[in-house]
Amino acid sequence: MTCNQPIGVFDSGMGGLSVLSQMRALLPHEDVLYYADNAYCPYGLRSQAEIQHRSRLIAHFLIDCGAKVVVVACNTASAMAIDDLRGHFPSIDIIGLEPAVKPAVKLTRSGKVGVLATPRTVAGERMRWLIETHAGGIEVHTVAASGLVELVEAGELTGTRVKEALSPLLDPMIEAGVDVIVLGCTHYPFLRTEIEAYMGSDVPVIDSGLAIALRTRHVLNESGLLTTDLGVGNLALMTSASVAEVEPVAQLLLGETVTVASIPVTSLVLDRR
Ligand code: DGL
Repeated sequence: MTCNQPIGVFDSGMGGLSVLSQMRALLPHEDVLYYADNAYCPYGLRSQAEIQHRSRLIAHFLIDCGAKVVVVACNTASAMAIDDLRGHFPSIDIIGLEPAVKPAVKLTRSGKVGVLATPRTVAGERMRWLIETHAGGIEVHTVAASGLVELVEAGELTGTRVKEALSPLLDPMIEAGVDVIVLGCTHYPFLRTEIEAYMGSDVPVIDSGLAIALRTRHVLNESGLLTTDLGVGNLALMTSASVAEVEPVAQLLLGETVTVASIPVTSLVLDRR
């Protein structure tokens, strides 16, 4: 392993680009390989076995491409597959993320926080553990927010359809007196403008993007793997779906011209590393 190898990042689709933006701001010299598993998105409606299988294939692919660390920029895959990935690839750091319940508990004044996440993340053991460990006496209202990922994947970030999708998710939170919203899915920061407008300016809307970027920098620093290259890092974007479908949305979400390559990752991973 050498320090000038790239960082490997993946998500079920475009959501991890919200994490990628934070990582590129914090680690501008690092090369990054980003794999968007759009052909299998949304993960939030898939079984744990399917999510583990896809995560394993993609991590294997990124490591084969030279990744020095693998960042799981997906709450659902982190909740469902991180232990499995660490078991399969013990010689490389696998960094995951989790909904920002802990910071939300510190921020609330009403004693009630809301967590928006995918159905799979909301129902997962990790969410139960997070709440049990960090909530204290604070009420945590979790909402399985199906439908939002599809809007982001379609590049629909504002407008009537987004408001209509948010209203049944956020109205119960408002009624319950929630005064902090946790975005427990990496797709949702792209809907932040609408979520903030809906909740009002006195309700902070927080996510885990910066936390995972900081964690990645820390892990690379600890293992002596921060790049020594002082140029601007390269970004390679890959998808399991078609370029025509993914490239325009990637450009919209990143706010820059990017090229996407379609590389289906389908072979079985049989070996352990
Ligand atoms: N962006 C992902 C997450 O953070 C997954 C969304 C999905 O594919 O359902 O949970």
